[in-house]
Amino acid sequence: MLNIAQPATGTANGKIILMGEHSVVYGEPAIAIPFPATHTQVTITETEGPVQLDCVYYQGNLSSAPRHLKNLIAVVESTISELKQELKDFRLTIESTIPVERGMGSSAAVAIAMVRALFSYFSTELTDDRLLSLANISETIAHGNPSGLDAAMTSGRHPLYYIKGEPFAPFRLSVSAYLIVADTGLKGQTRDAVASIARLKQENKKLTMDAIHQLGDLAKQAKLAIEANIPVKLGLAMDTAQETLDFLGVSNDTLNRLVRTARTNGALGAKLTGGGRGGCMIALASDKDTAARISAALLDAGAVNTWTHPLGDD
Ligand code: MEV
Repeated sequence: MLNIAQPATGTANGKIILMGEHSVVYGEPAIAIPFPATHTQVTITETEGPVQLDCVYYQGNLSSAPRHLKNLIAVVESTISELKQELKDFRLTIESTIPVERGMGSSAAVAIAMVRALFSYFSTELTDDRLLSLANISETIAHGNPSGLDAAMTSGRHPLYYIKGEPFAPFRLSVSAYLIVADTGLKGQTRDAVASIARLKQENKKLTMDAIHQLGDLAKQAKLAIEANIPVKLGLAMDTAQETLDFLGVSNDTLNRLVRTARTNGALGAKLTGGGRGGCMIALASDKDTAARISAALLDAGAVNTWTHPLGDD
């Protein structure tokens, strides 16, 4: 065991998908932003005996952790094996302000922070490729068929125009507007939502793929609207994407209600973000006062939390 004076830490942030969730799994583009208002830290300290996992979901030995944490166990084991080290005498403490199962990248952020903390603990240099491939081991277990977007966003500091399998394209969010993020308070399992669209595709390939391609086109339109700084057009693309996501079965009554509330209170556009079926929605506001009005209306309508995030250079 290495002798270290300080505990080793790894961090990651939450993420918000502006456009392109679900269709990104099928190779269409997505636009996403890191969301440092929510973040995760993993701290590794030395301890006696077997590996201890210490987090909001579980406290105890890693080897006896419940099944739903097997993605974390896999990421720890794979990282340790890649580092050619032994799995012993650690306490892994996860502290996170990213709401769990709300489409804000909680599982990816924990995996990213975990890999970073382990590499730091063993004083080994970590490349982005290694980081993402290890974190995506966890994402594959948690989500079945991840696009890789969540790991990319929770590890990064810049908005991305992301296409699965292509080099990252950092993207300047040069649009003068505010994003309001609202948490429905309902858990939404990304794995189930992704699987439900795969089933829909088996039942009706053409209809499903038309919807997926439409979401991809809307992400492209959103990119143009952002580059030209036309928030109204971005809002329209968001509204149409919400209709398509609802058609694909990944919205729900609560999300639809909050989307309507945002629109009636002046939003330029509103949609779910992330896997859906619960989780969070986002709304676009042209200015700070409208953003504050939308945020208050969303809380009145039952959102359990909201965040306001300036886009562009504001
Ligand atoms: C989940 O945050 C985003 C999805 O598009 C799944 C993925 O990209 O892996 C629903």
